[in-house]
Amino acid sequence: MSEEKLYLYPMWLRLWHWTNALLFLVLIITGLSLQYSGVEGAFIRFDIAVTYHNIAGIILTISFAFFLVANRISGNRKFYKVKRKGFIKRLMKQFRYYIYGVFVGEPKPYPVSEKRKFNPLQKLSYIVVMFGFMPLIIITGFGLLFPEINLENVFGVAGIYLTVLLHITVGFGLSVFMIVHIYFCTFGKTVGSEFKSMFTGWH
Ligand code: HEM
Repeated sequence: MSEEKLYLYPMWLRLWHWTNALLFLVLIITGLSLQYSGVEGAFIRFDIAVTYHNIAGIILTISFAFFLVANRISGNRKFYKVKRKGFIKRLMKQFRYYIYGVFVGEPKPYPVSEKRKFNPLQKLSYIVVMFGFMPLIIITGFGLLFPEINLENVFGVAGIYLTVLLHITVGFGLSVFMIVHIYFCTFGKTVGSEFKSMFTGWH
């Protein structure tokens, strides 16, 4: 049975998505340079890495706000809603498909339709990333941009130290997400079909 053609990724979403992906690449590269090299002999000159990291972070904040507003206005947010009853069971079914079913040619347990853009695992990961990790990385990023807004002392530990720790940990989590996300995007009809959809809008 061939799936019908669906327009799932409107222009605003595609623009947001690729802007976001590009900003992530800049943030990861400059972030790694800041993390793993000293002021001397840095992979990217320290002051340049700081400037690009800050600018990309500010644009990311604006684009994230745009994502939230546009999701609400366009109705795209309905795809992120979770019916709690039976969700774990659906997650396990999708997980089983990814580790077994896909390799023996089983049909997708939750194929894309007009009402269901994401399978349960996609839904969970997008929710955690977009409504958990993204706000956290942005808030802690601003904490580092304006150090005076951090709590001075949290149970005997300098507030800014906790902010750095959280920023780096969430940044690491988001980097891992991006790699896993790209890998799972190859599970479409062909290896490249999902990527093509995010450019044309059509699934
Ligand atoms: C070069 C990096 C990236 C590539 C190649 C990529 C690729 C894709 C593709 C092909 C899709 C459509 C298939 C699907 O819905 O799963 C998609 C959707 C999505 N991606 Fe990415 N992505 C990248 C980076 C990111 C990053 C960094 C984030 C967030 C931090 C992200 C968040 C999302 C979200 C939320 C969707 C679903 C959007 C919606 O339809 O509402 N992506 N991505």
